[in-house]
Amino acid sequence: MPRRVDFDDCLSLRDGHLFMEEADTTELVRQFGSPLFVYSENQLCRNVRRFRAAFQAGWPEGAVKVMPAAKANWLPAIQRILVREGCGCDVYSPGELSIALAAGCNPEFISVNGFPKEPAHIRTCIEQGVRITVDSLEEVPIIDEVAAALGRIARVRLRIKAPLSGFIRHSEFVAEGLVPTDLAALVYKNGLTFEDIVEIGPRLANSKNIEIVGFHQHNGRHRATTAYWEEQMRAYAKEIGRVCRLLGGLRPKEIDIGGGFAIPRDPFNAATHYSEPAQLAVLHVFSKLLRPLGARVRYAILGFLVDRIAGKPKEERAPTIESYAGACTRALRAGLAKEGIDTRGIMLQLEPGRSMHGNAGIHLATVKSIKHVRRPIRWTVVAVDTTEFWFTGGRYEHHLHHYVFANKGNEPMTGRADIVGRSCYGDRLLPAVRIPDVEVGDILAFLDTGAYQEVSASNFNAMLRPPTVLVTGSDAFVIRRRETEDDLMRRDSMPSHLAKQPSAASQDFVEEEGKD
Ligand SMILES: Cc1ncc(COP(=O)(O)O)c(C=O)c1O
Repeated sequence: MPRRVDFDDCLSLRDGHLFMEEADTTELVRQFGSPLFVYSENQLCRNVRRFRAAFQAGWPEGAVKVMPAAKANWLPAIQRILVREGCGCDVYSPGELSIALAAGCNPEFISVNGFPKEPAHIRTCIEQGVRITVDSLEEVPIIDEVAAALGRIARVRLRIKAPLSGFIRHSEFVAEGLVPTDLAALVYKNGLTFEDIVEIGPRLANSKNIEIVGFHQHNGRHRATTAYWEEQMRAYAKEIGRVCRLLGGLRPKEIDIGGGFAIPRDPFNAATHYSEPAQLAVLHVFSKLLRPLGARVRYAILGFLVDRIAGKPKEERAPTIESYAGACTRALRAGLAKEGIDTRGIMLQLEPGRSMHGNAGIHLATVKSIKHVRRPIRWTVVAVDTTEFWFTGGRYEHHLHHYVFANKGNEPMTGRADIVGRSCYGDRLLPAVRIPDVEVGDILAFLDTGAYQEVSASNFNAMLRPPTVLVTGSDAFVIRRRETEDDLMRRDSMPSHLAKQPSAASQDFVEEEGKD
């Protein structure tokens, strides 16, 4: 079995080497070092165009604006590509707002999400003329007062939290338990309930400093299915109808459906999707039951079971962008029609994050060490020069990424090992997965790492974060350089009483004192 990865995008295997667009990824490592984040410009553009065309086909009566979530990947060069492709932007923080504006994004298509929003941030939003997506009661008087002081109109949208009572399948966001999606969405911190809007609606609607231009919702990727999206859109349309009536027949100019569409090779939530946790649970039970039989028997049986444990990225693909678009637009239009809302001229907006960036990025790492445990149970550990601390966004969501040995893509996967990272934690990046005949120096490519990974990397263990390269055709450009030790200590300072380095003798003295 040489490979089992579906390459329908910027990736291909050529003579056993993984290519991104026209660039051999093993050459990228040779040129830029390891580990390395790599993005495909072409894939990103293709994703934008596919989202736009698919949603426009289902929403012919108004414009469609794709406003990718900056949080998923806010690198300035990536944001510039998105702007060049005609995108708006969903931002969550003052930093993301600055990056979107610096990239040249039209402020009318910047949705400023999140709460709490600081007054200074609100002021910048109004000065810049971006959309403020209202998400708390407290921000309303601030918006009103700051807009009045500036003599400007603040254009806002209401972030609605519509009850998803028609969708009770368990949320995949919650790895630890089978929480129904409707409850998981309800307890999520973002969004305004109808009662919230009853409270703030009159001030928003009556203020001469504020214009309510539309609505926003975002529940996130609780499930990958189109059925989940249909329910979201039904619930959203119903809530929009209710709020429009409450606000005296308000007619929205824009309706933003947020993000949460799955990445095609959806790596999401190994804890609920893959069998390894169940296998480990069985192992745990056996381990306890076998204890009275003594170590030899216990290890013999456990060894047999351990040999059978294998982690495997999910092979089932997420719905296509076109399926998502069809499901969303059909359900939203039908729901709005039921509420008596004429959709003509309403701009439909969407904020894909993971599905926009995920498959445009890979992470390349090099095998540095291989350990074989032989007794009492056989086990192989392959250590690579990256770490889960550079995949934090994905680890948080229990991702199990598809992977390819970039220099051995055609070799049979005959072995099995834990692929581990270099931090002092267990750092099991790919637990108990199939591997070819691996050697030190082989290059491992983690696929679909374009969203939430690089931007969440930390300096744990004082490790220097890797560089990022943008591939376009056969060219490659560094868009974020590798960190240096100077970068690492850039924010640190030494109080004057600690400024002098202690002498070796003084350290001996402290140790001696400690002994007494
Ligand atoms: C307001 C908003 N829009 C869009 C997104 C993007 O979500 P995803 O990456 O799941 O598409 C998020 C992510 O949290 C968000 O909070």
